[in-house]
Amino acid sequence: MLIHGDNLIALKALGHNFSGQVKCVYIDPPYNTGSAFEHYDDNLEHSTWLSLMVPRLRILRKLLCEEGSIWINLDDNEAHYCKIICDELFGRKQFVGTVIWEKADSPRMDASLFSVRHDYILVYAKNIKKIKFNREKYDTVQEHYKCVDENGRRYYTKPLRVMGGNISESLFFSIIAPDGTEILPYENNGKKSCWRWSKKKVIDEADRIEWVNGKNGWNPYFRIYADTLKGAPAQTIWSHDEAGSNRASKRESKLLFGENAFGTPKPEKLLLKLLNIATSPGDIVLDSFLGSGTTAAVAHKMGRRYIGIELGEHCYTHCLPCLKAVVDGEEGGISKCVGWKGGGGFRFYELAPTLIVPDKYGQPIINEKFNIMMLVESVSKLHGFTFAPDPDIYWKQGRSQDNCYIYVTANYLSTNELDSIARDLKKSDRLMICALAFDIGLGKRYENIQIRKIPMSILSKCEYNKDNYNFNIIRQTKQNDKEL
Ligand SMILES: C[S@@+](CC[C@H](N)C(=O)[O-])C[C@H]1O[C@@H](n2cnc3c(N)ncnc32)[C@H](O)[C@@H]1O
Repeated sequence: MLIHGDNLIALKALGHNFSGQVKCVYIDPPYNTGSAFEHYDDNLEHSTWLSLMVPRLRILRKLLCEEGSIWINLDDNEAHYCKIICDELFGRKQFVGTVIWEKADSPRMDASLFSVRHDYILVYAKNIKKIKFNREKYDTVQEHYKCVDENGRRYYTKPLRVMGGNISESLFFSIIAPDGTEILPYENNGKKSCWRWSKKKVIDEADRIEWVNGKNGWNPYFRIYADTLKGAPAQTIWSHDEAGSNRASKRESKLLFGENAFGTPKPEKLLLKLLNIATSPGDIVLDSFLGSGTTAAVAHKMGRRYIGIELGEHCYTHCLPCLKAVVDGEEGGISKCVGWKGGGGFRFYELAPTLIVPDKYGQPIINEKFNIMMLVESVSKLHGFTFAPDPDIYWKQGRSQDNCYIYVTANYLSTNELDSIARDLKKSDRLMICALAFDIGLGKRYENIQIRKIPMSILSKCEYNKDNYNFNIIRQTKQNDKEL
């Protein structure tokens, strides 16, 4: 899913269908650097930045599944303040760690004090007891596997005798060396030790034991094969070699958008590494500050499902064309690395206008931009019903459980109409009717029919009378320029 619009409203809407379903949230919000980038502004008062983040993080947490994690990419401007609010929102025990991503691949010679090379990625679990990360391929270890066996498998060896530390009596027994001598686990200085393996394992895995006849006699070693390595746990320092750099991401963006390259994209390799650790194919990934679409593009190429939300016009000029190119088999970024050949698809969504607006007396009324079907769909959704109009029975417009229906009407509900519906409604069925107006006393006429007035019944469930959710609220420099 690609959604154009403010992420707070979009996230609230997603809550109905996606609560507890998202495996990984990655966000790269405006860092609050004080800059005005070409595609968005990044200059808020600190407390404003934090208060805009809080409600979004709260909903993102709800959307995560129990095994899920959230990764928040920031720099020194707000990372430490964000850590404090996340401790409060997620719980300090849910803090998994901070990744240091080496975003710069060379120093900045014009820096006055530090040439900053890194960003932070704060990682929190929804439930630290349930979260599991995938282990990473640990290629550097391959150098370690210097020997090759008769079948071409790479391995290295370790002494079978415990070298110092506690000894166990059950692991003190003799093993027969190739010349028939019985070998007991004694250290070279005569001190008693023990084997690392049990008697049974020594018999079962005898073909993994190698004997070396040194100056102190026979010593058994055991083989550790490279192809049985389960990978290494993810580490907290990510170099630009393995996770890309800002320079690399600029290159990727130029390749896709030419002159119109995005100002602050992330490298595809960064997302590849992150999603490899936090997700598996088929999992849902969510990025509510999508920018030029990197997270969605990488998730698509990796066979993950994804939801990307972007407020700016670059949702059309960057995210949409980027994802279309990916579907068509775009060859940049991580494409070669994951063998991407194209395929799949995505849906594009636009946020509907505000459902409720104040009239000239300040009273809430339905926005006239809503036609009747839009009204039915949103009121059904807000009451927790799935919009599914029955082609034959006009008042069955949505359902929640098997025998629970909703009927939304922008007309006056008369007693006659209610009686006629009640005649067709089975005793075991339940119906909620939402109408703009209805006769007094009608609400109690039938036990299995509940009648509510719109918009009053949905006021508490949707946004109303709020000014601006936008992170990009300051465009002052440009406006002032114009005025001058
Ligand atoms: C740092 S950029 C993200 C870059 C992205 N990771 C990429 O690789 O292209 C932050 C993005 O958040 C978007 N944004 C800011 N406020 C938003 C809001 N309220 N709802 C949705 N997107 C928002 C900005 O328009 C900007 O594109």
